[in-house]
Amino acid sequence: MDKNFYITTPIYYPSGNPHMGHAYSSIIADIFARFKRLEGYNVLFLTGTDEHGLKIQREAEKNKKDPKLFCDELSKKFKDLTKILNLTNDDFIRTTEKRHYKSVEEIWNRLVESGDIYLDKYTGWYSVSDEAYYDEDEIEEVNGKKISKTSGSTVDWVEEESYFFKLSSWSEKLLKYYKDNKDFILPLSRKNEVVNFVKKGLKDLSVSRTSFSWGVPVPKNKKHVIYVWLDALTNYISALNFPNIKDENYKRFWPANIHIIGKDILRFHAIYWPAFLLAAKLPPPKKVFGHGWILSDDRKMSKSLGNILDPIEIVKSYGIDQLRYYLVKEVSLGNDGSISMDNLKNCINNDLANNYGNLCQRVFSFIKKNCSNKIPNAKNFNDLDNRLLNQLKNNIPNLIKLMNNQNLNEFIKLVVSYSFDGNKYFNDMEPWTVKKDDPERMKVILFTICEQIKNISILLNSIIPKATERVLETMNVKQKNISINQINNLECFDHDKELKELDILFNKIENDN
Ligand code: ME8
Ligand code: MG
Repeated sequence: MDKNFYITTPIYYPSGNPHMGHAYSSIIADIFARFKRLEGYNVLFLTGTDEHGLKIQREAEKNKKDPKLFCDELSKKFKDLTKILNLTNDDFIRTTEKRHYKSVEEIWNRLVESGDIYLDKYTGWYSVSDEAYYDEDEIEEVNGKKISKTSGSTVDWVEEESYFFKLSSWSEKLLKYYKDNKDFILPLSRKNEVVNFVKKGLKDLSVSRTSFSWGVPVPKNKKHVIYVWLDALTNYISALNFPNIKDENYKRFWPANIHIIGKDILRFHAIYWPAFLLAAKLPPPKKVFGHGWILSDDRKMSKSLGNILDPIEIVKSYGIDQLRYYLVKEVSLGNDGSISMDNLKNCINNDLANNYGNLCQRVFSFIKKNCSNKIPNAKNFNDLDNRLLNQLKNNIPNLIKLMNNQNLNEFIKLVVSYSFDGNKYFNDMEPWTVKKDDPERMKVILFTICEQIKNISILLNSIIPKATERVLETMNVKQKNISINQINNLECFDHDKELKELDILFNKIENDN
Protein backbone atom coordinates (compact mmCIF):
# COMPACT_ATOMS: atom_id res chain seq x y z
CA MET A 1 0.00 0.00 0.00
CA ASP A 2 1.15 3.52 -0.83
CA LYS A 3 1.81 5.14 2.53
CA ASN A 4 2.96 8.53 1.23
CA PHE A 5 0.70 11.53 1.32
CA TYR A 6 1.33 14.96 -0.16
CA ILE A 7 -0.93 17.86 0.78
CA THR A 8 -0.62 21.57 -0.02
CA THR A 9 -2.21 24.92 0.73
CA PRO A 10 -2.33 27.71 -1.84
CA ILE A 11 0.81 29.79 -1.82
CA TYR A 12 -0.44 33.17 -0.67
CA TYR A 13 0.31 36.59 -2.14
CA PRO A 14 2.42 38.49 0.35
CA SER A 15 0.81 41.71 -0.81
CA GLY A 16 -0.61 42.46 2.61
CA ASN A 17 -0.85 40.91 6.04
CA PRO A 18 -2.18 37.37 6.32
CA HIS A 19 -5.84 37.24 7.32
CA MET A 20 -8.49 34.78 8.47
CA GLY A 21 -9.06 33.38 4.97
CA HIS A 22 -5.43 32.36 4.69
CA ALA A 23 -5.51 30.96 8.22
CA TYR A 24 -8.58 28.93 7.32
CA SER A 25 -7.05 27.14 4.30
CA SER A 26 -3.88 26.45 6.22
CA ILE A 27 -5.67 25.07 9.27
CA ILE A 28 -7.82 22.78 7.13
CA ALA A 29 -4.75 21.43 5.36
CA ASP A 30 -2.93 21.00 8.66
CA ILE A 31 -5.81 18.97 10.08
CA PHE A 32 -5.73 16.56 7.15
CA ALA A 33 -1.93 16.37 7.27
CA ARG A 34 -1.95 15.56 10.97
CA PHE A 35 -4.70 13.01 10.57
CA LYS A 36 -2.80 11.17 7.84
CA ARG A 37 0.21 11.02 10.14
CA LEU A 38 -2.03 9.54 12.84
CA GLU A 39 -2.99 6.94 10.27
CA GLY A 40 0.67 6.11 9.82
CA TYR A 41 1.31 7.89 6.55
CA ASN A 42 4.54 9.52 5.56
CA VAL A 43 3.20 13.02 5.00
CA LEU A 44 4.61 15.99 3.17
CA PHE A 45 2.71 19.18 3.91
CA LEU A 46 3.63 22.28 1.91
CA THR A 47 2.67 25.92 2.19
CA GLY A 48 4.37 29.16 1.13
CA THR A 49 4.14 32.49 -0.66
CA ASP A 50 3.52 33.51 -4.27
CA GLU A 51 5.77 36.48 -4.81
CA HIS A 52 5.79 37.49 -8.47
CA GLY A 53 3.40 39.35 -10.71
CA LEU A 54 2.06 42.81 -11.26
CA LYS A 55 0.00 42.85 -8.06
CA ILE A 56 3.10 42.40 -5.92
CA GLN A 57 5.23 44.72 -8.05
CA ARG A 58 2.65 47.51 -7.67
CA GLU A 59 2.25 46.94 -3.96
CA ALA A 60 6.02 47.15 -3.52
CA GLU A 61 6.13 50.37 -5.56
CA LYS A 62 3.37 51.84 -3.45
CA ASN A 63 5.47 51.11 -0.39
CA LYS A 64 8.58 52.44 -2.12
CA LYS A 65 10.37 49.15 -1.69
CA ASP A 66 12.33 46.85 -3.89
CA PRO A 67 9.93 43.96 -4.66
CA LYS A 68 12.23 41.29 -3.26
CA LEU A 69 12.77 43.16 0.00
CA PHE A 70 9.07 43.89 0.17
CA CYS A 71 8.36 40.16 -0.22
CA ASP A 72 11.00 39.22 2.33
CA GLU A 73 9.18 41.25 4.96
CA LEU A 74 5.69 40.08 4.19
CA SER A 75 6.57 36.49 3.45
CA LYS A 76 8.06 36.35 6.93
CA LYS A 77 4.68 37.27 8.37
CA PHE A 78 3.13 34.30 6.58
CA LYS A 79 5.91 32.08 7.83
CA ASP A 80 5.41 33.37 11.38
CA LEU A 81 1.71 32.62 11.03
CA THR A 82 2.48 28.94 10.45
CA LYS A 83 3.92 28.86 13.98
CA ILE A 84 1.07 30.84 15.48
CA LEU A 85 -1.46 28.46 13.89
CA ASN A 86 0.56 25.45 15.08
CA LEU A 87 0.89 24.13 11.53
CA THR A 88 3.00 21.06 10.87
CA ASN A 89 4.13 22.08 7.40
CA ASP A 90 7.31 20.30 6.39
CA ASP A 91 8.39 23.02 4.01
CA PHE A 92 7.65 26.65 3.20
CA ILE A 93 8.27 27.59 -0.40
CA ARG A 94 8.82 31.06 -1.79
CA THR A 95 8.56 31.54 -5.53
CA THR A 96 11.58 33.85 -5.40
CA GLU A 97 13.80 30.91 -4.44
CA LYS A 98 16.34 29.44 -6.82
CA ARG A 99 14.88 25.93 -6.58
CA HIS A 100 11.61 27.31 -7.88
CA TYR A 101 13.16 29.19 -10.80
CA LYS A 102 14.81 25.99 -12.01
CA SER A 103 11.52 24.18 -11.88
CA VAL A 104 9.53 26.89 -13.68
CA GLU A 105 12.15 27.14 -16.43
CA GLU A 106 11.97 23.39 -16.96
CA ILE A 107 8.18 23.41 -17.18
CA TRP A 108 8.40 26.23 -19.71
CA ASN A 109 10.97 24.37 -21.78
CA ARG A 110 8.87 21.24 -21.75
CA LEU A 111 5.83 23.18 -22.98
CA VAL A 112 7.89 24.73 -25.76
CA GLU A 113 9.27 21.35 -26.70
CA SER A 114 5.84 19.72 -26.87
CA GLY A 115 4.68 22.48 -29.20
CA ASP A 116 2.16 23.86 -26.72
CA ILE A 117 3.57 27.39 -26.64
CA TYR A 118 3.55 30.01 -29.43
CA LEU A 119 4.18 33.75 -29.69
CA ASP A 120 1.32 36.15 -30.54
CA LYS A 121 -0.31 39.27 -29.19
CA TYR A 122 -2.79 39.48 -26.31
CA THR A 123 -5.63 41.95 -26.47
CA GLY A 124 -8.23 41.72 -23.75
CA TRP A 125 -9.11 42.26 -20.12
CA TYR A 126 -6.85 41.60 -17.17
CA SER A 127 -7.45 41.88 -13.45
CA VAL A 128 -4.29 42.67 -11.53
CA SER A 129 -5.93 41.87 -8.23
CA ASP A 130 -6.90 38.36 -9.43
CA GLU A 131 -3.89 38.09 -11.77
CA ALA A 132 -6.40 36.68 -14.26
CA TYR A 133 -7.48 37.21 -17.86
CA TYR A 134 -11.19 37.59 -18.46
CA ASP A 135 -13.35 37.22 -21.57
CA GLU A 136 -15.81 39.87 -22.59
CA ASP A 137 -18.74 37.79 -21.28
CA GLU A 138 -17.07 37.46 -17.88
CA ILE A 139 -17.03 41.18 -17.14
CA GLU A 140 -19.68 43.81 -16.53
CA GLU A 141 -19.80 47.55 -16.11
CA VAL A 142 -20.70 48.97 -12.70
CA ASN A 143 -20.63 52.75 -12.08
CA GLY A 144 -18.65 53.25 -15.26
CA LYS A 145 -16.04 50.72 -14.21
CA LYS A 146 -15.39 47.36 -15.84
CA ILE A 147 -15.23 44.58 -13.28
CA SER A 148 -15.08 40.79 -13.24
CA LYS A 149 -18.52 39.24 -12.73
CA THR A 150 -17.09 36.52 -10.51
CA SER A 151 -14.64 38.35 -8.27
CA GLY A 152 -15.83 41.94 -8.60
CA SER A 153 -12.31 43.20 -9.10
CA THR A 154 -11.55 45.88 -11.68
CA VAL A 155 -10.14 44.84 -15.04
CA ASP A 156 -7.81 46.77 -17.35
CA TRP A 157 -7.51 46.60 -21.10
CA VAL A 158 -4.23 44.99 -22.11
CA GLU A 159 -2.54 44.87 -25.52
CA GLU A 160 0.90 43.35 -25.65
CA GLU A 161 3.07 40.70 -27.23
CA SER A 162 2.59 37.47 -25.38
CA TYR A 163 3.33 33.78 -25.49
CA PHE A 164 0.27 31.57 -25.52
CA PHE A 165 -0.35 28.10 -24.20
CA LYS A 166 -2.53 25.96 -26.47
CA LEU A 167 -5.16 25.38 -23.83
CA SER A 168 -7.82 24.98 -26.54
CA SER A 169 -6.34 21.66 -27.57
CA TRP A 170 -6.67 20.22 -24.05
CA SER A 171 -10.45 20.46 -23.49
CA GLU A 172 -11.21 16.87 -24.49
CA LYS A 173 -8.30 15.44 -22.53
CA LEU A 174 -9.29 17.41 -19.45
CA LEU A 175 -12.88 16.21 -19.69
CA LYS A 176 -11.60 12.67 -19.96
CA TYR A 177 -9.37 13.21 -16.94
CA TYR A 178 -12.33 14.49 -14.89
CA LYS A 179 -14.38 11.49 -15.99
CA ASP A 180 -11.69 8.95 -15.17
CA ASN A 181 -10.90 10.60 -11.83
CA LYS A 182 -14.25 11.12 -10.18
CA ASP A 183 -12.71 12.67 -7.09
CA PHE A 184 -10.41 15.07 -8.87
CA ILE A 185 -12.55 18.14 -8.21
CA LEU A 186 -14.33 18.40 -4.89
CA PRO A 187 -16.84 19.28 -3.62
CA LEU A 188 -18.97 17.84 -6.41
CA SER A 189 -21.07 20.99 -6.74
CA ARG A 190 -17.95 22.83 -7.84
CA LYS A 191 -16.95 20.07 -10.22
CA ASN A 192 -20.01 20.73 -12.36
CA GLU A 193 -19.08 24.40 -12.74
CA VAL A 194 -15.65 23.43 -14.01
CA VAL A 195 -16.90 20.70 -16.34
CA ASN A 196 -19.45 23.06 -17.88
CA PHE A 197 -16.82 25.71 -18.38
CA VAL A 198 -14.49 23.29 -20.13
CA LYS A 199 -17.33 21.87 -22.22
CA LYS A 200 -17.96 25.31 -23.70
CA GLY A 201 -14.48 25.01 -25.20
CA LEU A 202 -11.29 26.58 -23.89
CA LYS A 203 -9.39 29.44 -25.46
CA ASP A 204 -5.62 29.57 -25.60
CA LEU A 205 -4.10 31.16 -22.54
CA SER A 206 -1.65 34.04 -22.45
CA VAL A 207 1.31 32.83 -20.41
CA SER A 208 3.77 35.71 -20.50
CA ARG A 209 3.81 39.46 -19.98
CA THR A 210 6.05 42.19 -21.34
CA SER A 211 4.75 45.32 -19.61
CA PHE A 212 6.49 44.65 -16.30
CA SER A 213 9.50 42.71 -15.13
CA TRP A 214 8.78 41.19 -11.70
CA GLY A 215 8.69 37.49 -12.52
CA VAL A 216 10.62 34.55 -13.88
CA PRO A 217 12.09 35.58 -17.26
CA VAL A 218 11.07 33.48 -20.24
CA PRO A 219 14.07 31.32 -21.18
CA LYS A 220 15.63 32.67 -24.37
CA ASN A 221 13.44 35.80 -24.47
CA LYS A 222 14.13 38.01 -21.47
CA LYS A 223 11.69 40.64 -22.71
CA HIS A 224 8.96 38.44 -21.27
CA VAL A 225 8.23 37.25 -17.78
CA ILE A 226 6.26 34.05 -17.26
CA TYR A 227 2.59 34.55 -16.33
CA VAL A 228 2.38 34.46 -12.55
CA TRP A 229 -0.07 31.53 -12.44
CA LEU A 230 2.15 29.24 -14.51
CA ASP A 231 4.93 30.31 -12.16
CA ALA A 232 2.85 29.88 -8.99
CA LEU A 233 1.25 26.50 -9.73
CA THR A 234 4.64 25.00 -10.42
CA ASN A 235 5.59 25.56 -6.76
CA TYR A 236 3.92 22.26 -5.92
CA ILE A 237 6.60 20.34 -7.79
CA SER A 238 9.49 22.75 -7.14
CA ALA A 239 9.26 21.74 -3.51
CA LEU A 240 9.83 18.11 -4.56
CA ASN A 241 13.06 19.09 -6.32
CA PHE A 242 11.60 18.98 -9.81
CA PRO A 243 13.15 18.91 -12.45
CA ASN A 244 15.09 16.16 -10.75
CA ILE A 245 12.38 13.54 -11.19
CA LYS A 246 14.72 10.86 -9.87
CA ASP A 247 14.73 12.69 -6.56
CA GLU A 248 13.32 10.67 -3.68
CA ASN A 249 10.80 13.38 -2.79
CA TYR A 250 9.50 13.71 -6.30
CA LYS A 251 9.17 9.94 -6.69
CA ARG A 252 7.41 9.55 -3.38
CA PHE A 253 5.10 12.51 -3.39
CA TRP A 254 4.10 13.37 -6.94
CA PRO A 255 1.28 13.35 -7.96
CA ALA A 256 0.02 15.24 -4.90
CA ASN A 257 -2.83 13.61 -3.04
CA ILE A 258 -4.68 16.86 -2.49
CA HIS A 259 -4.40 20.57 -3.10
CA ILE A 260 -6.49 22.49 -0.56
CA ILE A 261 -7.59 25.82 -2.06
CA GLY A 262 -10.41 28.36 -1.93
CA LYS A 263 -13.11 28.32 -4.58
CA ASP A 264 -11.75 31.57 -6.06
CA ILE A 265 -8.78 29.76 -7.55
CA LEU A 266 -10.45 26.55 -8.65
CA ARG A 267 -10.19 27.32 -12.35
CA PHE A 268 -6.43 27.67 -12.10
CA HIS A 269 -6.04 24.40 -10.23
CA ALA A 270 -8.64 22.28 -11.97
CA ILE A 271 -8.12 23.46 -15.56
CA TYR A 272 -4.82 25.22 -16.14
CA TRP A 273 -2.70 23.14 -13.80
CA PRO A 274 -3.63 19.68 -15.10
CA ALA A 275 -3.38 20.99 -18.68
CA PHE A 276 0.14 22.35 -18.07
CA LEU A 277 1.15 19.10 -16.44
CA LEU A 278 -0.33 16.85 -19.12
CA ALA A 279 1.37 18.95 -21.79
CA ALA A 280 4.66 18.68 -19.86
CA LYS A 281 4.11 14.90 -19.69
CA LEU A 282 3.72 14.90 -15.94
CA PRO A 283 0.81 13.40 -14.01
CA PRO A 284 -1.83 15.81 -12.61
CA PRO A 285 -2.64 15.86 -8.89
CA LYS A 286 -5.19 13.40 -7.56
CA LYS A 287 -7.54 15.82 -5.90
CA VAL A 288 -8.31 19.51 -5.74
CA PHE A 289 -10.60 20.59 -2.92
CA GLY A 290 -12.08 24.08 -3.26
CA HIS A 291 -13.52 25.28 0.03
CA GLY A 292 -15.94 28.17 0.46
CA TRP A 293 -15.56 31.67 1.82
CA ILE A 294 -15.21 32.70 5.39
CA LEU A 295 -17.67 35.52 5.88
CA SER A 296 -17.80 37.87 8.78
CA ASP A 297 -21.31 38.64 10.02
CA ASP A 298 -22.63 37.27 6.72
CA ARG A 299 -20.53 39.58 4.58
CA LYS A 300 -17.23 39.00 2.88
CA MET A 301 -14.47 40.20 5.15
CA SER A 302 -13.05 43.43 3.88
CA LYS A 303 -11.08 46.34 5.20
CA SER A 304 -13.66 48.87 4.09
CA LEU A 305 -16.46 47.07 5.92
CA GLY A 306 -14.30 46.96 9.03
CA ASN A 307 -15.35 43.39 9.76
CA ILE A 308 -11.99 41.68 9.49
CA LEU A 309 -11.28 39.15 12.19
CA ASP A 310 -7.55 38.95 12.71
CA PRO A 311 -6.40 35.38 13.37
CA ILE A 312 -3.39 36.58 15.35
CA GLU A 313 -5.55 38.68 17.71
CA ILE A 314 -7.96 35.78 18.22
CA VAL A 315 -5.16 33.38 18.99
CA LYS A 316 -3.76 35.86 21.51
CA SER A 317 -7.08 36.35 23.25
CA TYR A 318 -8.55 32.85 23.10
CA GLY A 319 -5.91 30.33 22.05
CA ILE A 320 -5.00 28.48 18.88
CA ASP A 321 -6.97 25.30 19.53
CA GLN A 322 -10.01 27.43 20.13
CA LEU A 323 -9.63 29.14 16.76
CA ARG A 324 -8.89 25.89 14.90
CA TYR A 325 -11.84 24.13 16.45
CA TYR A 326 -14.23 26.98 15.88
CA LEU A 327 -13.37 27.43 12.21
CA VAL A 328 -13.92 23.82 11.29
CA LYS A 329 -16.91 23.29 13.54
CA GLU A 330 -18.74 26.40 12.47
CA VAL A 331 -18.04 26.51 8.74
CA SER A 332 -19.28 23.63 6.68
CA LEU A 333 -16.22 22.77 4.59
CA GLY A 334 -17.00 23.45 0.96
CA ASN A 335 -19.66 26.07 1.66
CA ASP A 336 -19.41 29.68 2.64
CA GLY A 337 -19.72 30.22 6.35
CA SER A 338 -20.16 33.17 8.63
CA ILE A 339 -18.06 33.61 11.71
CA SER A 340 -18.51 36.07 14.54
CA MET A 341 -17.07 36.78 17.96
CA ASP A 342 -20.30 35.78 19.69
CA ASN A 343 -20.39 32.40 18.00
CA LEU A 344 -16.74 31.87 18.73
CA LYS A 345 -17.33 32.43 22.44
CA ASN A 346 -20.36 30.15 22.51
CA CYS A 347 -18.47 27.45 20.69
CA ILE A 348 -15.54 27.63 23.11
CA ASN A 349 -17.86 27.49 26.09
CA ASN A 350 -20.22 24.78 24.90
CA ASP A 351 -18.05 22.39 22.95
CA LEU A 352 -14.64 22.83 24.45
CA ALA A 353 -15.04 24.04 28.03
CA ASN A 354 -18.33 22.37 28.99
CA ASN A 355 -18.01 19.21 26.99
CA TYR A 356 -14.52 17.83 26.32
CA GLY A 357 -12.69 20.04 28.84
CA ASN A 358 -15.17 19.34 31.58
CA LEU A 359 -15.08 15.60 30.95
CA CYS A 360 -11.31 15.46 31.32
CA GLN A 361 -11.13 17.71 34.33
CA ARG A 362 -13.86 16.05 36.39
CA VAL A 363 -12.57 12.55 35.69
CA PHE A 364 -8.98 13.41 36.55
CA SER A 365 -9.89 15.21 39.75
CA PHE A 366 -12.05 12.26 40.82
CA ILE A 367 -9.14 9.91 40.21
CA LYS A 368 -6.87 12.17 42.20
CA LYS A 369 -9.19 12.15 45.19
CA ASN A 370 -10.23 8.52 45.12
CA CYS A 371 -7.56 6.42 43.41
CA SER A 372 -4.23 7.86 44.60
CA ASN A 373 -4.16 9.76 41.33
CA LYS A 374 -3.61 6.62 39.23
CA ILE A 375 -5.75 5.18 36.47
CA PRO A 376 -6.97 1.86 37.87
CA ASN A 377 -6.27 -1.31 35.93
CA ALA A 378 -9.72 -2.84 35.88
CA LYS A 379 -11.10 -4.24 32.66
CA ASN A 380 -13.97 -6.50 33.66
CA PHE A 381 -16.40 -4.41 31.67
CA ASN A 382 -20.14 -4.82 31.89
CA ASP A 383 -22.59 -4.14 29.06
CA LEU A 384 -22.80 -0.43 29.79
CA ASP A 385 -19.04 0.00 29.65
CA ASN A 386 -18.83 -2.04 26.48
CA ARG A 387 -21.63 -0.07 24.94
CA LEU A 388 -19.78 3.20 25.48
CA LEU A 389 -16.45 1.93 24.21
CA ASN A 390 -17.79 -0.09 21.29
CA GLN A 391 -19.85 2.71 19.89
CA LEU A 392 -16.70 4.68 19.23
CA LYS A 393 -14.54 1.70 18.37
CA ASN A 394 -16.97 0.27 15.82
CA ASN A 395 -17.14 3.59 14.08
CA ILE A 396 -13.41 3.98 13.47
CA PRO A 397 -13.48 2.86 9.82
CA ASN A 398 -16.29 5.30 9.20
CA LEU A 399 -14.46 8.13 10.98
CA ILE A 400 -11.35 7.52 8.90
CA LYS A 401 -13.44 7.53 5.76
CA LEU A 402 -15.08 10.80 6.72
CA MET A 403 -11.68 12.45 7.11
CA ASN A 404 -10.39 11.01 3.86
CA ASN A 405 -13.46 12.36 2.08
CA GLN A 406 -12.86 15.78 3.65
CA ASN A 407 -16.13 15.44 5.56
CA LEU A 408 -14.73 17.26 8.57
CA ASN A 409 -18.04 18.49 9.88
CA GLU A 410 -19.59 15.05 10.15
CA PHE A 411 -16.39 13.80 11.77
CA ILE A 412 -16.47 16.48 14.45
CA LYS A 413 -20.16 15.99 15.08
CA LEU A 414 -19.55 12.32 15.84
CA VAL A 415 -16.56 12.93 18.08
CA VAL A 416 -18.42 15.62 20.01
CA SER A 417 -21.22 13.14 20.55
CA TYR A 418 -18.72 10.64 22.03
CA SER A 419 -17.58 13.29 24.44
CA PHE A 420 -21.17 14.04 25.33
CA ASP A 421 -21.79 10.31 25.83
CA GLY A 422 -18.72 10.16 28.04
CA ASN A 423 -20.06 12.89 30.30
CA LYS A 424 -23.44 11.18 30.43
CA TYR A 425 -21.87 7.82 31.24
CA PHE A 426 -19.91 9.36 34.08
CA ASN A 427 -23.07 10.98 35.47
CA ASP A 428 -25.14 7.82 35.12
CA MET A 429 -22.54 5.48 36.59
CA GLU A 430 -22.12 7.71 39.64
CA PRO A 431 -18.68 6.46 40.65
CA TRP A 432 -18.98 8.66 43.76
CA THR A 433 -21.94 6.51 44.92
CA VAL A 434 -20.50 3.18 43.82
CA LYS A 435 -17.26 3.92 45.64
CA LYS A 436 -18.45 2.79 49.07
CA ASP A 437 -20.21 -0.49 48.25
CA ASP A 438 -18.27 -1.66 45.24
CA PRO A 439 -14.83 -0.07 44.90
CA GLU A 440 -13.91 -2.64 42.22
CA ARG A 441 -16.81 -1.50 40.08
CA MET A 442 -15.72 2.10 40.57
CA LYS A 443 -12.34 1.19 39.16
CA VAL A 444 -13.86 -0.29 36.03
CA ILE A 445 -15.91 2.85 35.51
CA LEU A 446 -12.80 4.98 35.83
CA PHE A 447 -10.80 2.85 33.46
CA THR A 448 -13.63 2.92 30.94
CA ILE A 449 -14.00 6.65 31.03
CA CYS A 450 -10.23 7.17 30.78
CA GLU A 451 -10.19 4.91 27.75
CA GLN A 452 -12.98 6.99 26.24
CA ILE A 453 -11.07 10.21 26.97
CA LYS A 454 -7.94 8.78 25.41
CA ASN A 455 -9.82 7.73 22.28
CA ILE A 456 -11.56 11.08 21.89
CA SER A 457 -8.26 12.87 22.43
CA ILE A 458 -6.60 10.90 19.66
CA LEU A 459 -9.51 11.57 17.33
CA LEU A 460 -9.47 15.29 18.12
CA ASN A 461 -5.70 15.52 18.04
CA SER A 462 -5.46 16.77 14.47
CA ILE A 463 -8.00 19.51 15.20
CA ILE A 464 -6.98 20.66 18.69
CA PRO A 465 -3.43 19.33 19.02
CA LYS A 466 -2.32 21.37 22.03
CA ALA A 467 -5.18 20.49 24.35
CA THR A 468 -5.33 16.84 23.38
CA GLU A 469 -1.59 16.42 23.79
CA ARG A 470 -1.85 17.94 27.27
CA VAL A 471 -4.60 15.50 28.15
CA LEU A 472 -2.71 12.50 26.83
CA GLU A 473 0.42 13.71 28.59
CA THR A 474 -1.57 14.00 31.84
CA MET A 475 -2.57 10.36 31.39
CA ASN A 476 1.07 9.46 30.64
CA VAL A 477 0.24 8.29 27.13
CA LYS A 478 3.47 8.64 25.21
CA GLN A 479 3.56 10.88 22.16
CA LYS A 480 4.57 7.96 19.99
CA ASN A 481 1.40 6.21 21.04
CA ILE A 482 -0.76 8.89 19.53
CA SER A 483 -2.00 7.06 16.49
CA ILE A 484 -5.28 5.75 15.20
CA ASN A 485 -4.08 2.24 16.06
CA GLN A 486 -3.99 3.12 19.75
CA ILE A 487 -7.70 3.80 19.83
CA ASN A 488 -8.62 0.24 20.66
CA ASN A 489 -5.51 -0.52 22.62
CA LEU A 490 -6.39 -1.06 26.28
CA GLU A 491 -2.73 -1.15 27.27
CA CYS A 492 -1.81 2.50 26.78
CA PHE A 493 -1.86 3.49 30.46
CA ASP A 494 0.82 3.06 33.08
CA HIS A 495 -1.21 2.15 36.14
CA ASP A 496 1.67 2.69 38.53
CA LYS A 497 2.21 6.24 37.45
CA GLU A 498 0.37 9.20 38.88
CA LEU A 499 -1.55 11.51 36.60
CA LYS A 500 0.24 14.73 35.87
CA GLU A 501 -1.20 18.08 36.85
CA LEU A 502 -3.61 19.51 34.31
CA ASP A 503 -4.40 23.21 34.39
CA ILE A 504 -7.74 24.36 33.07
CA LEU A 505 -7.93 23.13 29.48
CA PHE A 506 -10.29 25.75 28.12
CA ASN A 507 -11.20 28.87 30.03
CA LYS A 508 -14.82 29.80 29.77
CA ILE A 509 -15.35 33.12 28.07
CA GLU A 510 -17.52 35.67 29.82
CA ASN A 511 -19.87 37.52 27.52
CA ASP A 512 -19.09 41.19 27.82
CA ASN A 513 -22.51 42.42 26.77
O1 ME8 B 1 -4.84 33.44 -4.89
N1 ME8 B 1 -12.32 32.65 3.00
O2 ME8 B 1 -3.30 33.99 -3.25
P1 ME8 B 1 -4.22 34.76 -2.20
C1 ME8 B 1 -11.68 31.48 2.81
N2 ME8 B 1 -1.33 33.38 -4.84
N3 ME8 B 1 -10.47 31.39 2.24
C2 ME8 B 1 -9.88 32.50 1.86
C3 ME8 B 1 -10.48 33.78 2.02
C4 ME8 B 1 -11.76 33.81 2.64
N4 ME8 B 1 -12.42 34.96 2.89
N5 ME8 B 1 -9.64 34.69 1.54
C5 ME8 B 1 -8.54 34.02 1.09
C6 ME8 B 1 -3.70 33.49 -4.46
N6 ME8 B 1 -8.67 32.71 1.29
C7 ME8 B 1 -2.56 32.86 -5.25
C8 ME8 B 1 -2.61 31.35 -5.06
S1 ME8 B 1 -1.68 28.88 -5.50
C9 ME8 B 1 -0.68 28.15 -6.62
C10 ME8 B 1 -1.57 30.59 -5.82
C11 ME8 B 1 -7.69 31.67 0.98
O3 ME8 B 1 -3.28 35.38 -1.23
C12 ME8 B 1 -8.23 30.67 -0.03
O4 ME8 B 1 -7.50 29.47 0.07
O5 ME8 B 1 -5.19 35.62 -2.88
C13 ME8 B 1 -7.91 31.34 -1.33
O6 ME8 B 1 -7.93 30.44 -2.41
C14 ME8 B 1 -6.53 31.85 -1.03
O7 ME8 B 1 -6.57 32.25 0.35
C15 ME8 B 1 -6.13 33.01 -1.93
O8 ME8 B 1 -4.96 33.58 -1.43
MG1 MG C 1 -6.83 36.53 -3.77
